[in-house]
Amino acid sequence: MLEGFGEMSLEKERNHRSMPKLGINIDHVATLREARKTYMPDPVEAALICEKAGCDSIVCHLREDRRHIKDADVVSLRKAVKTRLNLEMSVAPGIVDFACKIRPDQATLVPEKREEVTTEGGLDVRGNLKKLSLVTARLKARGIGVSFFINPAISQIEASLECGAGIIELHTGEYANAGTAAARKRELDILEKAAKHALSLGLEVNAGHGLHYENVCDVARIKGMNELNIGHSIISRAVFVGISAAVREMLELI
Ligand code: PXP
Repeated sequence: MLEGFGEMSLEKERNHRSMPKLGINIDHVATLREARKTYMPDPVEAALICEKAGCDSIVCHLREDRRHIKDADVVSLRKAVKTRLNLEMSVAPGIVDFACKIRPDQATLVPEKREEVTTEGGLDVRGNLKKLSLVTARLKARGIGVSFFINPAISQIEASLECGAGIIELHTGEYANAGTAAARKRELDILEKAAKHALSLGLEVNAGHGLHYENVCDVARIKGMNELNIGHSIISRAVFVGISAAVREMLELI
């Protein structure tokens, strides 16, 4: 699939076409490890292979219940990651304290419910302006870039700016789950309009959730898209072809 794309030529090609960057969420490597409560597979080793294959950042979510990624993983990732470490996190005080101590390059604030299988919706920024502003200020004071994971709604984008977040990540779940071509097109239009508005306000625009090898291209084409964060589909593909090939296949599509 990747014939003709050596590591260097792919890099040049990406810069030339100003393609979005690719952040890889490695939570599910830790999910597999936790299935046996052992030491393998190691998410840090996975992160290093992803970087070698050409990704632009490593993403992990330290959930309050520590169901996959543990504190020690984040500490090790902070030391090992050479690209950028993007820590997904809730605004729970203990998690915010931990992030301030570890200082990832970026913190992506997400809503978190214990019973959910994965992050379900975007942050209600408008409804939590004060709390989110305070957490954002604390993280930024530690030199951490702050991103809000939000639904592609104008009011949430404007509220993100009010809170001081310089970056938003548009939730692509509705797009990914759309059952018909018409619904998918509708969700893509919403994402495009949201991205355009956020860019006009000076926000950096990322996107993610539910993106896979068949649906990523249209989102990658959205004008001004800075980075796509993808986890489950790449780690799933890696089971069959290895992490390196799974990452490079996604990079080629983007
Ligand atoms: N972005 C955010 C904020 C997420 O919470 C997740 C899921 O952990 C992702 C991106 C990646 O989603 P997926 O695993 O469906 O690619």
